[in-house]
Amino acid sequence: MNLGQLLQHGRPHPDTPGLTIAHARAYELCGAVCFGGMRPRAYARLARLSGARPGDRVLDVGCGTGYLTRRIAKAVGPTGSVLGIDPSAEVIAYARDKTREPHCAYEAGVGEALSAPDGSFDVVVSCLAVHHLPEDLRPVALREMYRVLRPGGRLMIADFRAPRTRPVRHVIAAVTGHVMVDYRVDLLDGLIAGAGFDVRGRGDVRPWLRYVQGVRPEKP
Ligand SMILES: C[S@@+](CC[C@H](N)C(=O)[O-])C[C@H]1O[C@@H](n2cnc3c(N)ncnc32)[C@H](O)[C@@H]1O
Repeated sequence: MNLGQLLQHGRPHPDTPGLTIAHARAYELCGAVCFGGMRPRAYARLARLSGARPGDRVLDVGCGTGYLTRRIAKAVGPTGSVLGIDPSAEVIAYARDKTREPHCAYEAGVGEALSAPDGSFDVVVSCLAVHHLPEDLRPVALREMYRVLRPGGRLMIADFRAPRTRPVRHVIAAVTGHVMVDYRVDLLDGLIAGAGFDVRGRGDVRPWLRYVQGVRPEKP
């Protein structure tokens, strides 16, 4: 059994075929270890890259334990709001427990069928969650993110950038399973453009992440 299997639910989740995280505390510990002390800085940078500003309404898809969600709550301030959604009841409970800001909330939900009305957010973010979806649901989730963003709204997706060096790939595959090393983060641009977004920027966040930014055009 590898680390991925240890952290995830043993049975299929009733609401999604996505790989859902069951053990919030263990996930947090792995996050701290795998980022080697760089997690606070990496996620603070993602919050800046999201373009979230005071007063914005933000959605975090696949929020997990809320590590990014809480950083975005600071960026939008009390005049804004952040909603984190995740199918896992365990991570949602953990995220609620860790969050003090009243304008930062969490709900059960799946990226491929968002419950929010059309155009209800200024910014949508998602970190390390797209690779948790089966390939056929990734474009569906991106179209949902497009739908719930207002015209002119901003998108920032970050996901795992597998290293190219063979020995490191072997270690990651042994520790986490093949989903992460086989994930094609280079396909994110096409996925985002395919959903209708204008791709505006991309880059790497050390040690493991690639991000792509998009904007929902004012006119389709
Ligand atoms: C690796 S964690 C990332 C959590 C958090 N965004 C972070 O950066 O720490 C991936 C998350 O995606 C969630 N997930 C799985 N299937 C999903 C789906 N269909 N829709 C939204 N999130 C999903 C998992 O439950 C898990 O919490």
